[in-house]
Amino acid sequence: MEVLDVIKDRFSPYEYTDKAISKEDLNTLFEAAGKAASAFNEQPWRFIYALRDDEDAFMAIHECLVDGNKGWTANLPVLMISVVRENFEKNGNPNGTAEHDLGLAVGNLSVQAQAMGINLHQMGGIIPQNAIDKLNIPEGYKPLTAIALGYYEGDSGVKERKPVSEFAFNGSWK
Ligand SMILES: Cc1cc2nc3c(=O)[nH]c(=O)nc-3n(C[C@H](O)[C@H](O)[C@H](O)COP(=O)(O)O)c2cc1C
Repeated sequence: MEVLDVIKDRFSPYEYTDKAISKEDLNTLFEAAGKAASAFNEQPWRFIYALRDDEDAFMAIHECLVDGNKGWTANLPVLMISVVRENFEKNGNPNGTAEHDLGLAVGNLSVQAQAMGINLHQMGGIIPQNAIDKLNIPEGYKPLTAIALGYYEGDSGVKERKPVSEFAFNGSWK
């Protein structure tokens, strides 16, 4: 299958089946994430994840979500929190593209997941301080998003997108 076809089929479901994601498959997703480019190859992304059957760990992540994201995520196969390292390891200076690089890693992960028939739904609606406290995130690291993963059965929920002409400009702005 062409990569673009995989990308075109991706969407963020709100419902997932009970089917578990294997640790092996999860590892493949992280491998894809870890291959992303990053400024100075710093790889500032980190992920804290829990499988549904690890009740305590799963609930600890679930409690990091805002109320609006709690209902539909209560019974998912996998929940995770994405985290960025805020300063460069090489010199301690602020890493201004750390969040961009985390986004690239999650982009890789989401395309790999789609290719494997795994769906995911990212969430900006988290309570960062809960993540810091409950997941032992050290100073210098910032929790950014949550990600729900699982298998979806049902009709496609692919949404409309802006045409390329609205966001890619040849030479100068519009
Ligand atoms: C960084 C980010 C934060 C998001 N936050 C939330 C969220 O807190 N709750 C939610 O239900 N969806 C959230 N979404 C999902 C978006 O609403 C969704 O990706 C968007 O509407 C496009 O739909 P699609 O992913 O199905 O193509 C988020 C997506 C991203 C990338």
